[in-house]
Order: sequence, then structure tokens, then C-alpha cells
Amino acid sequence: MARCTIIGMGHIGKALYADLNGRVDSLNGLDANHERVKALREQGYRVSTDHTGCEGTDTWIITASTGLDMSNMLEIARSFVPAPGALVSVESTLSVGTMARLAAYYLSEGISPGSDVYLVHAPHRVMFGHDHSTLSMPRVIGGITPECLARGMSFYSQLGASLVPVQDIRVAELSKLVENSLRHVNIAFAEAIAVACSQAGMDFPALRSAVNTKGNVHLMDVDYGIGGECLPKDIRLLQHFAGSPLFESAILADRDYQRNLLDHAQQAGEKVLVRGITYKPGVPDVEHSLALDLALALQDAGSSVEVYDPLVPPAEVLRLGLVPAEDPFNTQGYDIIIERGRIVHERLVADVQDTGDRE
Ligand SMILES: NC(=O)c1ccc[n+]([C@@H]2O[C@H](COP(=O)([O-])OP(=O)(O)OC[C@H]3O[C@@H](n4cnc5c(N)ncnc54)[C@H](O)[C@@H]3O)[C@@H](O)[C@H]2O)c1
Repeated sequence: MARCTIIGMGHIGKALYADLNGRVDSLNGLDANHERVKALREQGYRVSTDHTGCEGTDTWIITASTGLDMSNMLEIARSFVPAPGALVSVESTLSVGTMARLAAYYLSEGISPGSDVYLVHAPHRVMFGHDHSTLSMPRVIGGITPECLARGMSFYSQLGASLVPVQDIRVAELSKLVENSLRHVNIAFAEAIAVACSQAGMDFPALRSAVNTKGNVHLMDVDYGIGGECLPKDIRLLQHFAGSPLFESAILADRDYQRNLLDHAQQAGEKVLVRGITYKPGVPDVEHSLALDLALALQDAGSSVEVYDPLVPPAEVLRLGLVPAEDPFNTQGYDIIIERGRIVHERLVADVQDTGDRE
């Protein structure tokens, strides 16, 4: 049904490749990172750093990282000439106006969106650890022209995706930024309350359980801060579009929460255990993990830190420059135990409550 090439074989591209494999006429992956390409090839992916094997592609899907300035998207557009009538779908998260700039680039090359090339944006919404497929979540999709949108919808609906078409492609761009930033703001709100509870010697989980009994209230849980790559990046992109002080405040509240956790751990004593070090619970990935940042900062400051995560083998912990805990569920011997950002054990709890009362 389509000869597809995915550009950007990171978390999203790799997962998408696995979902498309066997369901399209041909499938290739491209990535600029030689190490990643080597590793993927060893796992059986048909992937390369150059365009060898991509001849005949009629469907280009871009899932590469963007950074904050989006220049990478233009570089990628310049790296290939789409065959007449090809679909170019960008699934990476974009700043508002990026698709219009890509369209202007194609026009400047004499390639007309809507007739020579069909240009759509279908931002990815997969939640790793929750979704089983990159196509299971309804997908917002916008086109540069109605013809582009129709062509993009035809491709994705044949794969069984449920689609949410929007007439203005900027709505598709903004939708992803709003989704992630709303989550960021909600977590930052919870973090601000958690810091205040900690300073007052109050139990944040107890507060959370109490307020969440009201049907229209959902106070989010807190972790080590707002980790991962997407949420901190996307609120910056939204801030650029909508210059409200709310977004800067949410970023500062998150920073304040992380600082508070670090200070609290440092004041609690020398022996620290951090349980749960992946970037989010249930996902075996330590990239952009704030738990690692916390453990390494404590270690650098002279604390004796041990870490444990059922998803991270001890050898990997050592490679990360940390010490694996031998007996992570024995509280003896630790001054403080932090599990997914929450202090689950602390020696001299009474002293900590005194401090809270004085403040
Ligand atoms: N990870 C998520 O949960 C998630 C969810 C929704 C949306 N997104 C968005 O999807 C995009 C990709 O995210 P990811 O998590 O897969 O990132 P990633 O860092 O895991 O992978 C991005 C890949 O793109 C490659 N790349 C960068 N520039 C390239 C170029 N010019 N040519 C070829 N390859 C290039 C990198 O080498 C890397 O392998 C981002 O815009 C992100 O915000 C991510």
C-alpha cells in the first residue's frame, strides 16, 4: 500500500517502524546517529544513515528530534527530493508555523504542496508504558492544503488509525504543545503544593487522596520533578507562542521542587537510597531521568548514595557512575530513602517536623 521511509529512528521512529513493519509495501529507517543505526541493524531493522535503499519511497514520515529552533526539520526537508505525488508526514512535535515554513521551502524549490507533494502534520501522542501501539491513540492531523489532508488521512486510516482532522495545520502543531504543557502545568501545581506540605510537615499523599475524592478534581502525583525530554521542551515551545507568565512560573515551580528535594536529602544525612531511577515509572529508560540527576548531585556533594530500580540491572547502574543497592528494602543503614521523588523513610523524622514548624 505504501513505500515508507521513517526519518529519525529514536523512541518514536523505532516504535512506529515496529508497528508499520509488514503492513506497508516497503519500509526503511534513516537516522543521523551511526551508533543507533548500528544497534538497530543488529536487531534486524532495515535502517541506514544515508538514503541507499530509500529509492522509490512514496511516503516519508519524519520522527526526528527537533530541538527548540526547528532548524533540523528544514535540514531534513533539504536532504531528499520527494517523488511526484509523495506524502511527507511530520510526526515530530513542532513549534507553531513550522509546517508553513516547510511548505514555503518546497515552493521555493518549485514543488507545490497539494499537487507535487502532500504535506501533513500528525503529531505523535504515544504514551510509552501505557500504549501498546503508536497508532492506538486518536491522531490529530492537519494538511497544508485540503488535498494534503485528504492524502494523509487516506494513508493513516488504511493503517486503522482513528483520526481527528483539523482544517488549520497550526491547530495540529499547537494541539501537541498544549497537551504536554497542560500536563506540565498540572504537575508543577502539584509540586508547589508538595513543597508546601513538606515544609509544613504535612503528608502530600494524604492531601492528594482527600482532594481527589471530588469528581472534577485531579491533583497529579509528583516524582523527582518533570523529567523526560518532551514536557520541559514543549512548554518552552508553547511559551514562545503564548507569552503568558503562567508557563515560566510552572518551569520555576518545577525547578524549586527539584531543589527542595535535593536540599531535603542533603540535610537528612549522608546515607541515601534512591529507589526508582528510570525517567518515569514502568519504562526501562534512564535518558533524561531526574532521579539520576538527583543521585549524582548528592554523590558529588559527598553523600553515600545507593540506587535501585527493578528495570535497571546493577551493571547498568555501575556504568552510570552510581552504586547499586544490595538490600534496597532494608531501611537499616540509610538516613533517607527516596522512592519516585517521595521520602519513604527518614531517620530522625521528629527533627524534620521540628524544622517544618519553625519555618
Ligand atoms: N518520546 C516520546 O514519548 C514522544 C511522544 C510524542 C512526541 N515525541 C516527539 O517526537 C520527536 C522524536 O522524539 P523521540 O523521543 O523519538 O526522540 P529521540 O531523541 O529518541 O530520537 C530522535 C532521533 O532522531 C534522529 N535525528 C535527529 N536529527 C536527524 C536528522 N537530521 N536525520 C536523521 N535522523 C535524525 C536522532 O539521531 C534520534 O535517533 C520529538 O519531536 C518529540 O518531541 C516524543
